[in-house]
Amino acid sequence: MRPFDRRRVILGVTGGIACYKSVTLARLLTQAGAAVDVILSRAAREFVGAITFEAVTGRPVAPEILAPGHALAHIRLARETDLVIVAPATADLLARAAQGRADDQLTAVLLATRAPVLVAPAMNDGMWSHVLVLQNAQVLRAIGHTVLDPDTGPLAFGEGIGPGRMPEPETILAHASRLLETSTVLAGRKVIVTAGPTREALDPVRFISNHSSGRMGVALAAAAWRRGADVTLVHGPLEVPLPVGVGCVRVHSTAEMREAVAAALPTADALIMAAAPADFGAATVSAQKLKKSGATPVIALEHTVDILESTRALRRPGAVIMGFALETTNIEAHAREKMQRKGLDFIVANDATEDGAGFGVDTNRVVILDARGGRDTPPLMPKTQLAEVLLDHVIAALGTAS
Ligand code: CTP
Repeated sequence: MRPFDRRRVILGVTGGIACYKSVTLARLLTQAGAAVDVILSRAAREFVGAITFEAVTGRPVAPEILAPGHALAHIRLARETDLVIVAPATADLLARAAQGRADDQLTAVLLATRAPVLVAPAMNDGMWSHVLVLQNAQVLRAIGHTVLDPDTGPLAFGEGIGPGRMPEPETILAHASRLLETSTVLAGRKVIVTAGPTREALDPVRFISNHSSGRMGVALAAAAWRRGADVTLVHGPLEVPLPVGVGCVRVHSTAEMREAVAAALPTADALIMAAAPADFGAATVSAQKLKKSGATPVIALEHTVDILESTRALRRPGAVIMGFALETTNIEAHAREKMQRKGLDFIVANDATEDGAGFGVDTNRVVILDARGGRDTPPLMPKTQLAEVLLDHVIAALGTAS
Protein backbone atom coordinates (compact mmCIF):
# COMPACT_ATOMS: atom_id res chain seq x y z
CA MET A 1 0.00 0.00 0.00
CA ARG A 2 1.25 3.49 -0.84
CA PRO A 3 1.43 6.04 2.01
CA PHE A 4 -1.50 8.18 0.77
CA ASP A 5 -3.76 5.44 -0.62
CA ARG A 6 -7.45 6.22 -0.05
CA ARG A 7 -6.57 9.64 1.38
CA ARG A 8 -8.12 12.90 0.18
CA VAL A 9 -5.87 15.95 0.19
CA ILE A 10 -6.74 19.55 -0.64
CA LEU A 11 -3.79 21.47 -2.07
CA GLY A 12 -4.40 25.21 -1.77
CA VAL A 13 -2.09 27.25 -3.97
CA THR A 14 -1.76 31.00 -3.54
CA GLY A 15 -0.06 33.50 -5.82
CA GLY A 16 3.69 33.43 -5.43
CA ILE A 17 6.51 32.44 -7.73
CA ALA A 18 6.89 29.17 -5.76
CA CYS A 19 3.63 28.05 -7.45
CA TYR A 20 5.68 26.20 -10.01
CA LYS A 21 6.87 23.85 -7.25
CA SER A 22 3.26 23.17 -6.24
CA VAL A 23 2.80 21.29 -9.50
CA THR A 24 5.53 18.88 -8.42
CA LEU A 25 3.92 18.60 -5.00
CA ALA A 26 0.56 17.78 -6.61
CA ARG A 27 2.29 15.11 -8.68
CA LEU A 28 4.11 13.59 -5.67
CA LEU A 29 0.90 13.46 -3.65
CA THR A 30 -0.96 11.83 -6.55
CA GLN A 31 1.84 9.31 -7.12
CA ALA A 32 1.76 8.48 -3.41
CA GLY A 33 -1.90 7.50 -3.82
CA ALA A 34 -3.80 10.64 -2.73
CA ALA A 35 -6.85 12.05 -4.48
CA VAL A 36 -5.75 15.69 -4.73
CA ASP A 37 -8.26 18.55 -5.01
CA VAL A 38 -6.43 21.71 -5.98
CA ILE A 39 -7.82 25.09 -4.98
CA LEU A 40 -6.19 28.02 -6.74
CA SER A 41 -6.41 31.56 -5.42
CA ARG A 42 -7.14 34.27 -7.98
CA ALA A 43 -3.49 35.34 -7.93
CA ALA A 44 -2.24 31.76 -8.28
CA ARG A 45 -4.14 31.49 -11.59
CA GLU A 46 -1.87 34.25 -12.90
CA PHE A 47 1.17 32.02 -12.23
CA VAL A 48 0.03 28.51 -13.18
CA GLY A 49 -3.04 27.43 -15.11
CA ALA A 50 -5.71 25.12 -13.69
CA ILE A 51 -5.18 22.81 -16.65
CA THR A 52 -1.63 22.01 -15.46
CA PHE A 53 -2.89 20.80 -12.08
CA GLU A 54 -5.76 18.90 -13.69
CA ALA A 55 -3.34 17.05 -15.93
CA VAL A 56 -1.14 16.12 -12.97
CA THR A 57 -3.89 15.13 -10.50
CA GLY A 58 -6.45 13.75 -12.95
CA ARG A 59 -9.14 15.73 -11.10
CA PRO A 60 -10.85 19.05 -11.78
CA VAL A 61 -9.52 22.09 -9.95
CA ALA A 62 -12.07 23.36 -7.43
CA PRO A 63 -14.43 26.07 -8.71
CA GLU A 64 -14.33 29.65 -7.44
CA ILE A 65 -16.47 30.22 -4.36
CA LEU A 66 -19.27 32.08 -6.12
CA ALA A 67 -19.30 29.93 -9.28
CA PRO A 68 -22.91 29.10 -10.22
CA GLY A 69 -23.87 25.51 -9.45
CA HIS A 70 -21.20 25.09 -6.75
CA ALA A 71 -22.84 26.86 -3.82
CA LEU A 72 -21.68 24.37 -1.18
CA ALA A 73 -18.42 23.22 -2.76
CA HIS A 74 -16.36 24.59 0.13
CA ILE A 75 -18.40 22.65 2.69
CA ARG A 76 -18.22 19.40 0.74
CA LEU A 77 -14.48 19.75 0.06
CA ALA A 78 -13.79 20.67 3.68
CA ARG A 79 -15.75 17.73 5.01
CA GLU A 80 -14.39 15.06 2.68
CA THR A 81 -10.71 15.89 2.97
CA ASP A 82 -8.20 14.20 5.28
CA LEU A 83 -5.67 17.05 5.07
CA VAL A 84 -5.39 20.59 3.75
CA ILE A 85 -2.02 21.79 2.48
CA VAL A 86 -1.44 25.43 1.55
CA ALA A 87 1.71 25.68 -0.55
CA PRO A 88 2.86 28.27 -1.25
CA ALA A 89 1.13 30.40 1.36
CA THR A 90 1.61 34.10 0.62
CA ALA A 91 1.70 36.84 3.27
CA ASP A 92 -1.81 37.75 2.13
CA LEU A 93 -3.12 34.21 2.69
CA LEU A 94 -1.52 34.06 6.15
CA ALA A 95 -3.22 37.36 7.05
CA ARG A 96 -6.64 36.33 5.75
CA ALA A 97 -6.47 32.87 7.34
CA ALA A 98 -5.32 34.33 10.67
CA GLN A 99 -8.30 36.70 10.63
CA GLY A 100 -10.77 33.95 9.85
CA ARG A 101 -11.83 35.56 6.56
CA ALA A 102 -13.79 33.47 4.06
CA ASP A 103 -13.66 35.61 0.95
CA ASP A 104 -12.48 32.90 -1.43
CA GLN A 105 -12.72 29.13 -1.81
CA LEU A 106 -9.49 28.37 0.06
CA THR A 107 -10.08 30.53 3.13
CA ALA A 108 -13.69 29.28 3.31
CA VAL A 109 -12.41 25.69 3.27
CA LEU A 110 -9.84 26.52 5.95
CA LEU A 111 -12.65 27.67 8.23
CA ALA A 112 -15.02 24.84 7.37
CA THR A 113 -12.61 21.94 7.72
CA ARG A 114 -11.68 19.99 10.83
CA ALA A 115 -8.88 18.14 9.03
CA PRO A 116 -5.25 18.96 9.90
CA VAL A 117 -3.81 21.94 8.04
CA LEU A 118 -0.23 22.22 6.78
CA VAL A 119 0.97 25.66 5.67
CA ALA A 120 4.17 26.26 3.68
CA PRO A 121 4.80 30.01 3.51
CA ALA A 122 6.89 31.48 0.70
CA MET A 123 7.67 35.14 0.16
CA ASN A 124 10.41 37.72 0.03
CA ASP A 125 12.71 37.56 3.07
CA GLY A 126 11.83 41.13 4.08
CA MET A 127 8.14 40.25 4.11
CA TRP A 128 8.71 36.99 6.04
CA SER A 129 10.61 38.86 8.78
CA HIS A 130 7.86 41.51 9.16
CA VAL A 131 6.32 41.40 12.60
CA LEU A 132 2.77 41.20 11.19
CA VAL A 133 3.59 38.19 9.02
CA LEU A 134 5.31 36.40 11.91
CA GLN A 135 2.37 37.24 14.13
CA ASN A 136 -0.09 35.78 11.60
CA ALA A 137 2.00 32.61 11.31
CA GLN A 138 1.98 32.42 15.11
CA VAL A 139 -1.82 32.74 15.23
CA LEU A 140 -2.14 29.84 12.78
CA ARG A 141 0.25 27.74 14.86
CA ALA A 142 -1.68 28.58 18.01
CA ILE A 143 -4.90 27.21 16.51
CA GLY A 144 -3.15 23.94 15.69
CA HIS A 145 -2.06 24.42 12.09
CA THR A 146 1.41 23.17 11.19
CA VAL A 147 3.25 26.16 9.70
CA LEU A 148 6.62 25.24 8.21
CA ASP A 149 9.48 27.70 8.32
CA PRO A 150 10.48 28.76 4.82
CA ASP A 151 13.83 27.51 3.53
CA THR A 152 16.80 29.79 3.15
CA GLY A 153 18.15 30.03 -0.38
CA PRO A 154 18.01 32.03 -3.61
CA LEU A 155 14.76 34.03 -3.75
CA ALA A 156 13.07 35.48 -6.86
CA PHE A 157 15.32 36.87 -9.62
CA GLY A 158 17.67 39.57 -8.32
CA GLU A 159 16.55 39.20 -4.70
CA GLY A 160 19.63 37.39 -3.41
CA ILE A 161 19.61 34.73 -0.72
CA GLY A 162 17.43 34.69 2.37
CA PRO A 163 14.71 32.88 4.30
CA GLY A 164 11.51 32.85 2.26
CA ARG A 165 11.73 29.94 -0.17
CA MET A 166 8.97 27.39 -0.11
CA PRO A 167 10.30 24.12 1.38
CA GLU A 168 10.95 21.51 -1.31
CA PRO A 169 7.92 19.42 -2.38
CA GLU A 170 9.55 16.27 -0.88
CA THR A 171 9.82 18.03 2.49
CA ILE A 172 6.18 19.11 2.39
CA LEU A 173 5.19 15.56 1.39
CA ALA A 174 7.03 14.14 4.43
CA HIS A 175 5.25 16.57 6.77
CA ALA A 176 1.93 15.70 5.11
CA SER A 177 2.50 12.00 5.70
CA ARG A 178 3.29 12.69 9.38
CA LEU A 179 0.03 14.62 9.76
CA LEU A 180 -1.93 11.79 8.13
CA GLU A 181 -0.29 9.07 10.21
CA THR A 182 -2.87 7.37 12.34
CA SER A 183 -0.35 5.59 14.56
CA THR A 184 1.14 8.35 16.67
CA VAL A 185 2.08 6.09 19.54
CA LEU A 186 5.61 7.41 19.47
CA ALA A 187 4.48 10.99 20.15
CA GLY A 188 6.55 12.34 23.02
CA ARG A 189 9.01 9.44 22.77
CA LYS A 190 12.68 10.01 22.11
CA VAL A 191 14.24 7.61 19.63
CA ILE A 192 17.91 7.44 18.61
CA VAL A 193 18.72 5.80 15.30
CA THR A 194 22.23 5.28 13.97
CA ALA A 195 22.90 4.88 10.26
CA GLY A 196 25.66 4.38 7.75
CA PRO A 197 29.30 3.44 8.18
CA THR A 198 31.98 5.15 10.22
CA ARG A 199 35.48 5.85 8.97
CA GLU A 200 38.74 5.17 10.77
CA ALA A 201 41.61 7.32 9.55
CA LEU A 202 44.88 5.70 8.45
CA ASP A 203 46.51 9.00 7.55
CA PRO A 204 45.18 12.47 6.63
CA VAL A 205 43.70 11.21 3.33
CA ARG A 206 42.86 7.52 3.80
CA PHE A 207 40.47 5.54 5.95
CA ILE A 208 39.04 2.08 6.69
CA SER A 209 35.29 1.76 6.30
CA ASN A 210 32.60 -0.55 4.89
CA HIS A 211 29.86 -0.61 2.26
CA SER A 212 26.95 0.49 4.46
CA SER A 213 24.74 3.00 2.58
CA GLY A 214 22.64 4.15 5.56
CA ARG A 215 19.35 3.19 3.80
CA MET A 216 17.97 1.04 6.63
CA GLY A 217 18.77 3.58 9.35
CA VAL A 218 17.39 6.50 7.36
CA ALA A 219 14.17 4.55 6.66
CA LEU A 220 13.85 3.80 10.39
CA ALA A 221 14.44 7.42 11.39
CA ALA A 222 11.87 8.65 8.84
CA ALA A 223 9.28 6.09 9.96
CA ALA A 224 9.79 6.87 13.67
CA TRP A 225 9.45 10.60 13.00
CA ARG A 226 6.30 10.04 10.95
CA ARG A 227 4.80 8.14 13.88
CA GLY A 228 5.36 11.14 16.09
CA ALA A 229 8.74 10.44 17.74
CA ASP A 230 11.39 13.01 18.50
CA VAL A 231 14.21 11.40 16.50
CA THR A 232 17.96 11.86 16.67
CA LEU A 233 19.81 10.32 13.74
CA VAL A 234 23.50 9.76 14.42
CA HIS A 235 25.09 9.02 11.07
CA GLY A 236 28.25 8.62 9.10
CA PRO A 237 28.50 9.32 5.36
CA LEU A 238 25.20 8.39 3.68
CA GLU A 239 24.31 7.42 0.13
CA VAL A 240 20.72 8.57 0.60
CA PRO A 241 19.26 12.00 1.50
CA LEU A 242 18.79 12.91 5.16
CA PRO A 243 15.24 12.37 6.41
CA VAL A 244 12.93 15.33 7.01
CA GLY A 245 12.12 16.50 10.54
CA VAL A 246 14.83 14.52 12.25
CA GLY A 247 17.68 15.98 14.35
CA CYS A 248 20.85 14.81 12.61
CA VAL A 249 24.31 14.43 14.14
CA ARG A 250 27.05 13.81 11.58
CA VAL A 251 30.00 11.79 12.86
CA HIS A 252 33.11 10.35 11.27
CA SER A 253 34.78 7.76 13.49
CA THR A 254 33.34 5.01 15.67
CA ALA A 255 34.53 6.92 18.76
CA GLU A 256 32.61 10.01 17.59
CA MET A 257 29.51 7.91 17.01
CA ARG A 258 29.87 6.48 20.50
CA GLU A 259 30.07 9.99 21.98
CA ALA A 260 26.94 11.15 20.12
CA VAL A 261 25.00 8.04 21.18
CA ALA A 262 26.24 8.38 24.77
CA ALA A 263 25.09 12.02 24.89
CA ALA A 264 21.54 11.22 23.75
CA LEU A 265 21.05 7.82 25.39
CA PRO A 266 20.21 8.76 29.01
CA THR A 267 16.91 10.36 27.97
CA ALA A 268 16.06 8.03 25.05
CA ASP A 269 13.11 5.65 25.02
CA ALA A 270 14.67 3.57 22.25
CA LEU A 271 18.01 3.10 20.54
CA ILE A 272 18.07 1.45 17.13
CA MET A 273 21.67 0.73 16.12
CA ALA A 274 21.37 0.29 12.36
CA ALA A 275 24.82 1.76 11.72
CA ALA A 276 27.78 -0.30 10.65
CA PRO A 277 30.57 1.24 12.74
CA ALA A 278 34.06 0.36 11.53
CA ASP A 279 35.36 -2.37 13.85
CA PHE A 280 39.06 -1.70 13.32
CA GLY A 281 41.19 1.41 13.21
CA ALA A 282 44.91 2.02 12.86
CA ALA A 283 46.77 1.57 16.13
CA THR A 284 48.69 4.72 15.19
CA VAL A 285 47.24 7.22 12.73
CA SER A 286 50.02 8.61 10.58
CA ALA A 287 50.22 12.40 10.86
CA GLN A 288 51.57 12.60 7.30
CA LYS A 289 50.27 10.98 4.17
CA LEU A 290 51.79 7.49 3.86
CA LYS A 291 54.06 7.63 0.81
CA LYS A 292 54.13 5.02 -1.93
CA SER A 293 57.89 5.15 -2.20
CA GLY A 294 59.89 2.80 -0.01
CA ALA A 295 58.65 -0.40 1.59
CA THR A 296 54.95 -1.30 1.55
CA PRO A 297 53.60 -0.04 4.87
CA VAL A 298 52.34 -2.55 7.40
CA ILE A 299 49.55 -0.99 9.39
CA ALA A 300 48.83 -2.40 12.81
CA LEU A 301 45.11 -2.35 13.56
CA GLU A 302 43.25 -2.26 16.83
CA HIS A 303 39.61 -2.72 17.75
CA THR A 304 37.43 0.35 17.94
CA VAL A 305 35.10 0.77 20.89
CA ASP A 306 31.88 -1.25 20.81
CA ILE A 307 29.15 1.39 21.02
CA LEU A 308 26.33 -0.80 22.30
CA GLU A 309 28.45 -2.50 24.94
CA SER A 310 30.28 0.57 26.16
CA THR A 311 27.13 2.68 26.59
CA ARG A 312 25.12 0.01 28.41
CA ALA A 313 25.23 1.77 31.76
CA LEU A 314 23.80 4.94 30.21
CA ARG A 315 20.52 3.32 29.17
CA ARG A 316 17.37 4.51 30.87
CA PRO A 317 15.52 1.69 32.64
CA GLY A 318 12.86 0.39 30.25
CA ALA A 319 14.55 1.79 27.16
CA VAL A 320 14.19 -0.57 24.19
CA ILE A 321 17.46 -1.41 22.44
CA MET A 322 17.58 -2.91 18.96
CA GLY A 323 20.79 -4.00 17.30
CA PHE A 324 21.60 -5.46 13.90
CA ALA A 325 23.82 -8.36 12.99
CA LEU A 326 25.27 -8.84 9.54
CA GLU A 327 26.47 -12.41 9.36
CA THR A 328 27.74 -14.82 6.74
CA THR A 329 27.52 -18.12 8.68
CA ASN A 330 25.39 -19.52 11.51
CA ILE A 331 23.29 -16.37 11.26
CA GLU A 332 20.85 -16.90 14.11
CA ALA A 333 23.33 -18.42 16.54
CA HIS A 334 25.77 -15.55 16.06
CA ALA A 335 23.00 -13.00 16.27
CA ARG A 336 21.66 -14.46 19.53
CA GLU A 337 25.13 -14.43 21.03
CA LYS A 338 25.49 -10.73 20.06
CA MET A 339 22.07 -9.90 21.49
CA GLN A 340 23.10 -11.38 24.80
CA ARG A 341 26.61 -9.93 24.87
CA LYS A 342 25.34 -6.43 24.02
CA GLY A 343 22.28 -6.59 26.30
CA LEU A 344 19.72 -6.03 23.53
CA ASP A 345 15.95 -6.44 23.46
CA PHE A 346 16.06 -7.25 19.74
CA ILE A 347 18.57 -8.21 17.15
CA VAL A 348 17.82 -7.96 13.45
CA ALA A 349 19.89 -10.58 11.67
CA ASN A 350 20.91 -10.37 8.03
CA ASP A 351 22.60 -12.84 5.74
CA ALA A 352 25.32 -10.75 4.07
CA THR A 353 25.61 -13.29 1.26
CA GLU A 354 21.95 -13.16 0.19
CA ASP A 355 21.00 -11.24 -2.97
CA GLY A 356 18.67 -8.31 -2.33
CA ALA A 357 19.54 -8.11 1.36
CA GLY A 358 22.09 -6.25 3.47
CA PHE A 359 24.37 -3.43 2.35
CA GLY A 360 23.72 -1.07 -0.54
CA VAL A 361 20.33 -2.37 -1.77
CA ASP A 362 16.78 -1.07 -1.30
CA THR A 363 15.42 -4.36 0.01
CA ASN A 364 16.22 -6.58 2.96
CA ARG A 365 15.35 -9.98 4.35
CA VAL A 366 15.92 -10.35 8.07
CA VAL A 367 15.18 -12.53 11.04
CA ILE A 368 14.07 -10.53 14.07
CA LEU A 369 15.04 -12.22 17.33
CA ASP A 370 14.04 -10.95 20.74
CA ALA A 371 15.53 -11.52 24.15
CA ARG A 372 12.49 -13.53 25.31
CA GLY A 373 13.05 -16.13 22.61
CA GLY A 374 10.65 -14.65 20.02
CA ARG A 375 11.41 -14.95 16.33
CA ASP A 376 9.83 -13.10 13.40
CA THR A 377 10.73 -13.79 9.78
CA PRO A 378 9.22 -11.14 7.50
CA PRO A 379 9.66 -11.82 3.76
CA LEU A 380 12.09 -9.91 1.53
CA MET A 381 10.71 -6.35 1.34
CA PRO A 382 11.76 -2.75 0.71
CA LYS A 383 13.76 -1.28 3.60
CA THR A 384 11.12 1.46 3.97
CA GLN A 385 8.50 -1.23 4.63
CA LEU A 386 10.80 -3.26 6.87
CA ALA A 387 11.36 -0.11 8.93
CA GLU A 388 7.65 -0.13 9.79
CA VAL A 389 7.79 -3.80 10.83
CA LEU A 390 10.83 -3.17 13.05
CA LEU A 391 9.17 -0.15 14.64
CA ASP A 392 6.07 -2.21 15.41
CA HIS A 393 8.33 -4.51 17.45
CA VAL A 394 9.97 -1.58 19.25
CA ILE A 395 6.58 -0.02 20.00
CA ALA A 396 5.16 -3.29 21.34
CA ALA A 397 8.19 -3.62 23.64
CA LEU A 398 7.89 -0.01 24.77
CA GLY A 399 4.27 -0.69 25.65
CA THR A 400 5.21 -3.58 27.90
CA ALA A 401 8.19 -1.72 29.38
CA SER A 402 6.35 1.43 30.49
N1 CTP B 1 28.06 -2.11 16.85
C1 CTP B 1 28.44 -1.25 17.86
N2 CTP B 1 29.75 -0.85 17.96
C2 CTP B 1 30.68 -1.30 17.11
C3 CTP B 1 30.32 -2.23 16.09
C4 CTP B 1 28.99 -2.62 15.98
O1 CTP B 1 27.60 -0.85 18.65
N3 CTP B 1 31.93 -0.89 17.21
C5 CTP B 1 26.66 -2.50 16.74
C6 CTP B 1 26.09 -2.45 15.34
O2 CTP B 1 25.52 -1.18 15.05
C7 CTP B 1 25.03 -3.52 15.36
C8 CTP B 1 25.57 -4.54 16.35
O3 CTP B 1 26.56 -3.83 17.14
O4 CTP B 1 23.80 -3.06 15.84
C9 CTP B 1 26.25 -5.73 15.71
O5 CTP B 1 27.18 -5.30 14.76
P1 CTP B 1 28.02 -6.35 13.94
O6 CTP B 1 28.99 -5.61 13.05
O7 CTP B 1 27.11 -7.36 13.30
O8 CTP B 1 28.78 -7.12 15.09
P2 CTP B 1 30.14 -6.89 15.77
O9 CTP B 1 29.91 -6.67 17.21
O10 CTP B 1 30.94 -5.86 15.05
O11 CTP B 1 30.82 -8.34 15.61
P3 CTP B 1 31.46 -9.06 14.31
O12 CTP B 1 31.93 -7.97 13.39
O13 CTP B 1 32.54 -9.88 14.89
O14 CTP B 1 30.39 -9.91 13.68
